[in-house]
Amino acid sequence: MTRVEEILEKGSLGKEDIVALLSAGEDDSVAIFRKAREVKKGSVGNKVYFRGLIEYSNYCAKNCFYCGIRSGNSRYARYEMLDDEVLESARYAWENRFASIVLQSGERDDEAFIAKIERLIHRMQEMTRHELHITLSLGEQKMETYRRWFQAGAHRYLLRIEDANPGLYRKLHPNDQRHSYRGRVEALKALRATGYQVGTGVMIGLPFQTVSDLADDLIFFRDLDIDMVGMGPYIEHKDTPLYEHRDRLLPLGDRLRLSLKMVAVLRIMMKDINIAATTALQAIDPIGREKALQAGANVIMPNLTPVKYRQDYLLYENKPCLDEEAEHCKSCLETRIQMAGDTIAYGEWGDSKHFEKRKNPHE
Ligand code: 5AD
Ligand code: SF4
Ligand code: FES
Repeated sequence: MTRVEEILEKGSLGKEDIVALLSAGEDDSVAIFRKAREVKKGSVGNKVYFRGLIEYSNYCAKNCFYCGIRSGNSRYARYEMLDDEVLESARYAWENRFASIVLQSGERDDEAFIAKIERLIHRMQEMTRHELHITLSLGEQKMETYRRWFQAGAHRYLLRIEDANPGLYRKLHPNDQRHSYRGRVEALKALRATGYQVGTGVMIGLPFQTVSDLADDLIFFRDLDIDMVGMGPYIEHKDTPLYEHRDRLLPLGDRLRLSLKMVAVLRIMMKDINIAATTALQAIDPIGREKALQAGANVIMPNLTPVKYRQDYLLYENKPCLDEEAEHCKSCLETRIQMAGDTIAYGEWGDSKHFEKRKNPHE
């Protein structure tokens, strides 16, 4: 038995085990992916849940060093979708039985924004007779704001930790109150306390990031007992400060392989959570998301943002599906997912099984 095969037999993985799995070469990786597929089949099944992504606005008060829509970048026209456009996108998701949408935007914490989101959540719930699950990805907010949006009818929240190592987090963000690592962790705890199903995630292949950091990221998810994870490769954007460190980056192919291994190892560690096959994977490889499904992921986020806004929501370069209407992506994904051996769970909310168990421990 190889070292990797021995580790895969273990019930629980320690940091050294995780580092060994993430460092495995091509041959050993085959065994890791096989194991992750088995775990996926036995725990969450071969179903894929769709979350329609609505990129609501690219106004952002933050200035993260890696992100194309940071406030310091004046190259993009700033936009905010009209209420009717948001409702139309939500209607599309509902009528096509996606069962769930993600409302995402740059971070803002002014009252006008908070109240607008609250109203939109109410209106989407009303329009869909409460049949649509609403996930928010709107950054760090006060507990009170999280509560207002929860009461309006949003029940899931995505907030990536970006990198769980506080030292690296500091290198990726301006050193001020708005970008504090501690604030980020507090926000994740506040979301949990409010009652949301909470998702987090990291970028993989960042400059300065080591395999040991990535192992710590996976341990962070486990310690936080997280319900959902979305993580993908870091892809440099030339209008950002981090671009100056591009010489330190792994080649794109290696970042993809490392991302797939992260998905597989996480599936082995946290059998019943929801794991997204993220769009950034597809920016590197046309079938990157399908590869992630085969490595243990079970969620895909088809883009429902009106095409006219997509050019202005480029967090990273080479973002796919910039010109494809929702209908086109839907049929494209249907074929691809079938080829990957999975079935799309139309009409099912697809709550994280992990979250359900935590709420009803005796079921
Ligand atoms: N490459 C990959 N992912 C990125 N994000 C932001 N910028 C980049 C980039 N250059 C991710 C962050 C953020 C999410 C919305 O997009 O992880 O949380
Ligand atoms: Fe704003 Fe999010 Fe980009 Fe940071 S990652 S600059 S918070 S949109
Ligand atoms: Fe958008 Fe294939 S998923 S074109």
